[in-house]
Amino acid sequence: MRIIPLLSTLAVILIGCHTVVALDCKKISVKEKYYDISLLDSVTTIAQNETTDPTITQVTYRINPCAPLEPTKDKERDQCVKGTQVCHTTTNFKDDEPRITRVINLAGGANVSEPLFTLESSENENGNLIWSLPGSEGHSTNITFICDKKADGEKPSVKSYEQGILLLEWKSPHACSITDPSKSKPEEPKKEESSKSGWSIFFTVIFCLLFLYFVVGLIYNYLVNHETGIYLIPHLHFWRSFIEVAKDLGYQLYNKCMGIGRGGHGYSAV
Ligand SMILES: *[C@@H]1O[C@H](CO)[C@@H](O)[C@H](O)[C@H]1NC(C)=O
Ligand SMILES: *[C@@H]1O[C@H](CO)[C@@H](O)[C@H](O)[C@H]1NC(C)=O
Ligand SMILES: *[C@@H]1O[C@H](CO)[C@@H](O)[C@H](O)[C@H]1NC(C)=O
Repeated sequence: MRIIPLLSTLAVILIGCHTVVALDCKKISVKEKYYDISLLDSVTTIAQNETTDPTITQVTYRINPCAPLEPTKDKERDQCVKGTQVCHTTTNFKDDEPRITRVINLAGGANVSEPLFTLESSENENGNLIWSLPGSEGHSTNITFICDKKADGEKPSVKSYEQGILLLEWKSPHACSITDPSKSKPEEPKKEESSKSGWSIFFTVIFCLLFLYFVVGLIYNYLVNHETGIYLIPHLHFWRSFIEVAKDLGYQLYNKCMGIGRGGHGYSAV
């Protein structure tokens, strides 16, 4: 049936619309402090081998604090569920033949949620930023970000993994608090950016609504009115006359502009 591709397109578009509202790692505010960890928005992999004769057991953590992990080349059941941000896999190598033996979603996943940011309570004023997010079945991850200007590109280190709770420590210059974006000099570009993203969300929503309108209209015309070809377009009469009016308007505008252009020319020549 032709309706199936239509429905799957619709689903893809709806999911696309949904992911527009993603976690904003650029502007994290906790207790009057501001952080921008958007440069850590990529997949960081920590892998460790242990010799378990006659095999080797590799434990891997794939982490992205800012976005869900992309699917890997592995079979679907060898991967963490969609939306996972911290994925733990155990791979067993026997004679260099890998076999994934365990997959655990340690943060994010099916229940779409955003990480919680808190500040470590400490005596000194430089409380560290803590990222925490639950995964499936009682698992969860806490990442303690430590401000370290000299630690660019450093990977997070595993502090502990007990009772399904992974504690990571991540030294990074991006974990240092930044000045309040709404009070200091870089205010204007930041503001522009947010209004820009506001506009882009606005247009995305409009686009999604228009798309939905056409898709639902097409499906309706196909199923209920049994139309085919161009007659599948919803409110065809309206859109036809709309295009006519737009054409007309464009033509008139064009004429007017040309007229003024010529008029101006004539005047200056006099
Ligand atoms: C672990 O061992 C396997 C098999 O020898 C190897 O392919 C893999 O690269 C090793 N991983 C690490 C992190 O050393
Ligand atoms: C989603 O959340 C519900 C209620 O909080 C819980 O019962 C369920 O197990 C969660 N599903 C997954 C896949 O984590
Ligand atoms: C993880 O972070 C949450 C939120 O900051 C906190 O309540 C919890 O105690 C932390 N867990 C561990 C084991 O540090």
